[in-house]
Amino acid sequence: MSHEDYLKRVTQYIKLPNDEAKDQLEKFKSITSYQSGLYDDDASWQQLNQYITQSESERNIPPGNRHRVFYMALPPSVFVPVAKCLKKNAYISEGQTRVVVEKPFGMDTESSNQLGRELGALFREEEIYRIDHYLGKEMVKNVMMVRFANVFFNQIWDRKYIDNVQITFKEPFGTEGRGGYFDEFGIVRDVMQNHLLQVLSLIAMERPISTESEAIRNEKVKVLKCIAPIAVEDTLLGQYVGANGKPGYLEDETLKNKESKTPTYAALACWIQNERWEGVPFIMKAGKALDDAKVEVRIQFRNVAGNLYKGSPRNELVLRVQPGEAVYVKFNNKQPGLSYQTLQTDLDLSYQSRYSDLAIPDAYESLILDVLRNDHSNFVRDDELEAAWKIFTPLLHRIDRGELPLTTYPYGSRGPQELDAFVRKYGYDRSDVHYTWPRQSVSQNKTHL
Ligand code: BG6
Repeated sequence: MSHEDYLKRVTQYIKLPNDEAKDQLEKFKSITSYQSGLYDDDASWQQLNQYITQSESERNIPPGNRHRVFYMALPPSVFVPVAKCLKKNAYISEGQTRVVVEKPFGMDTESSNQLGRELGALFREEEIYRIDHYLGKEMVKNVMMVRFANVFFNQIWDRKYIDNVQITFKEPFGTEGRGGYFDEFGIVRDVMQNHLLQVLSLIAMERPISTESEAIRNEKVKVLKCIAPIAVEDTLLGQYVGANGKPGYLEDETLKNKESKTPTYAALACWIQNERWEGVPFIMKAGKALDDAKVEVRIQFRNVAGNLYKGSPRNELVLRVQPGEAVYVKFNNKQPGLSYQTLQTDLDLSYQSRYSDLAIPDAYESLILDVLRNDHSNFVRDDELEAAWKIFTPLLHRIDRGELPLTTYPYGSRGPQELDAFVRKYGYDRSDVHYTWPRQSVSQNKTHL
């Protein structure tokens, strides 16, 4: 690529809201440069090193402040050779070298540990930033605040009050064009072992002793270590088939194995064996080619003991990660008017309507800033990664060997038809059939006597 081609490539999707932004974009281009080279060629890396050193000198950066960030978004096969060349030729000791590492971090416990050992021989843990972009999402960053800055949520956050927790990821498109990558990984490795499990650990961990990154990560590791490997009985797997003019997974042109048994949908229940959570199922659900684009955490509380208002639905707390960040609590209110029946309704904090000057950065924007600030709180530590793989590895090996049943679901549907029975099995009570949002009719509601 020429320098011009490179600039075009990195700026082509930037939308300019006004003239001021135009100037900013020009400024950005003027400090952006492109150096080409081979992944495993020392000379290429030395050239890069020279280029950076020259830039540091021109900008009069004092030696102690010569920090460098390398962002490694690379195919797994070249990962280690690149890390080695980087260490040998472009590592700086007159400042900090930080390497950002993108997934996949291996395929299972063994391959991830192997990668960890090779990377660990080159860089210290505090130099490594394992990125999981879900940790940069606004609502995910909000979990700790909701839990630990509010007396009422904090007090009911355990097995005594919570019946079940669901973490849901829905995408309305299939693997179109990414079949080659996806088929090797499947939905469990693609979004569950990383993104959804990270969310789960924030929901389930104990209160850290402070907001320091190591304090937070210590608690995340602890709770992950309390989770037993996912059992086959707690698993529902599916693959989408063509429907409504959309191709099925096996029809994806980028897919090599036309008889693939890779799941594009999974619902898994896991159990946290500690004092706070014993007996509370945490259900993770994720799927491609579904009817909706949505990521949310739904915490369903227990039935009211000795309820005067029999049959009134359970309370729920929902944290909607996307689209449209929201925190809302579903609760029972008196039906307005002369009636004394209960009506399920909500306390709703939808960010868009509540906050007037809302500007939520993209997850990557926020995480890259964290790297520049040397803050590891929202990055995955080595022991955390190992604990995460241990939960999934036995199940993944059985999926890889094709030993587990795989059901199908039509493109654009809610997922496998077995899903409702699956979540019911874990106590999820979907009794709010008349609840509507955002407007609700007073009269057309189920009555609870
Ligand atoms: C990526 C997965 O890590 O996350 C993709 O590889 C998935 O398959 C994506 O689509 C989802 O991210 P987001 O931010 O769009 O929810």
